[in-house]
Amino acid sequence: MKILVVGSGGREHAIIKTIKENKGVEAIYAYPGNGGMKDDAILVPGSATDVEGVVNFAKSNLIDYVVVTPDDPLVLGMVDALEAVGIPCFGPRANAAIIEGSKVFSKNLMKKYGIPTAAYEVFDDVNKALAYVETCPIPTVIKADGLALGKGVVIAMTRDEAKQAVISCMSDHQFGKSGDHIVIEEFLEGPEVSVLSFTDGNVVVPMISSMDHKRAHDNDEGLNTGGMGTIAPNPYYTSDVASVCMEKIFLPTINAMKEEGRTFKGCLYFGLMITKDGPKVIEYNCRFGDPETQVVLPLLESDLLTIMMATTNGTLNATEVKFSSKSACCVIMASNGYPTHYEKGFEITCEPSVKDDIYFAGAAIKDGKLVTNGGRVLGVTSIADDLKSAIALSYEKVGKIHFDNSFYRHDIGARALKAKE
Ligand code: AMP
Ligand code: GLY
Repeated sequence: MKILVVGSGGREHAIIKTIKENKGVEAIYAYPGNGGMKDDAILVPGSATDVEGVVNFAKSNLIDYVVVTPDDPLVLGMVDALEAVGIPCFGPRANAAIIEGSKVFSKNLMKKYGIPTAAYEVFDDVNKALAYVETCPIPTVIKADGLALGKGVVIAMTRDEAKQAVISCMSDHQFGKSGDHIVIEEFLEGPEVSVLSFTDGNVVVPMISSMDHKRAHDNDEGLNTGGMGTIAPNPYYTSDVASVCMEKIFLPTINAMKEEGRTFKGCLYFGLMITKDGPKVIEYNCRFGDPETQVVLPLLESDLLTIMMATTNGTLNATEVKFSSKSACCVIMASNGYPTHYEKGFEITCEPSVKDDIYFAGAAIKDGKLVTNGGRVLGVTSIADDLKSAIALSYEKVGKIHFDNSFYRHDIGARALKAKE
C-alpha cells in the first residue's frame, strides 16, 4: 500500500512512524512533511491546505489511503475532494469538521443535545457583546468562532480585559473573519484532560488519556502555545470519570453528529475540564492533537493503519484497539522567543541513541544539514513503567539534542506526578 500523510508537524511525524510498522505499507509520502522526517517518508513539496494539489498528487501516484491530519484542510473539505475521486481517507468530511471549525456550531450542538459544557452566549454585534461583558461574571472567556491557530481564546480576568478582547476580535479583526462571531462563555475551573478517540460515526473508542502543557514557560507562565509537552495517561482521568465521559459526552456527541446528518469519521479530540460538577467539554478538535499524539501513539499496541481504515469502512466495532499500561512523556524543544518572534536556521544535532525517539516539527534541510525552521522544533518522547521514569528519561534525552537558542519547559508532567501522590 502507498500512504499519503498530509501535514508537517511532530504529530504527523508520530503518525508516519507508527503507520510504518504495518508490514503492508510499501511507501509513505508526507505532503509536505518537514526535513526531519526524510528518513521516514518521501517528502512532497506543497502546502497542506492545497486541496487540488493533494488530490492531483494522490491520483497520479496511485495512493491507496490518505491521512488528512491538520484542521484547516479538513475544514476546507480535503476528505470530500479525495472521496470524490475514489480515494479513501482518514478524517472527517467538511460538514463534520465544522465541530472544530465553528465554536458557535459546537456550542449550539452541545446545548441542543444536553452535552455538558460551559454556559455561553453568541454575539455577532460588537455593541451587544460589549454590553454583555459590562455585567457578566468575571473571569470570563471570549472565543473567536472560527479557526485561529489556537490563539482565538482569551481568558479575561478583569472586565477591561474582556472589553479589550471583544474589540480586538470584532472591531480590529485580530483573527480575520474568524472573529465576526464570538462566543462568550463561563470560566470553568479544574484540571484539563485531552481524550483523543477513534470513531467510524457509530462506535467511539477513546484512546489513552493525556495532559497537554499549553503555556510557554515553567509553572504555567507565559503565553499560550500549541503545546510544550504532554504526558499519558492523565491521572485525573480516573475510570469513574471515563465512564461518565462515555455516557454523557463521547456517545452523545457521536450520535448528535449522526442525527444532524454530519456523521463524524476519523479522530475526534475531546478537550475536557474535570470541574467539581463533573467533566465538561472545553473544545472539540476534528483531528489528532499536537503534541498529544506524540505520547498516545507510542503507547498504542494495535496496528494504527488497520484502525484508521476501520474508521473509514465503518468496522471499528470489530477492530482491536489496545494500549500499553505504561506511561509516556514528550518534551517539546522550541526556538527561543516562541510563540512570538524567534530566529531560524540553527543546525540541529543529536546523539544517535535518541534519534528514534524524536518527532520533528519545525525542521528543514539546508545545504545538507538539518536546521531549525519553526517555533516548536521537535519533541522527544520516552516510555517507561511509571510516569516519573518516563519524565526523567525524556529530560535525559533532551540533554543529548542540541541547537542554538533552544528552550523547553522543565516541569512537563510535574502536575500529573503531584496528582498521583
Ligand atoms: P481552546 O482553544 O478552546 O482549547 O482553549 C484554549 C485553552 O483556554 C484551554 O485549553 C483552556 O485552558 C482555556 N479555556 C478555554 N475555555 C475555557 C473555559 N470556559 N474556562 C476556563 N478555561 C478555558
Ligand atoms: N494540543 C492541543 C491541540 O492540538 O489543539
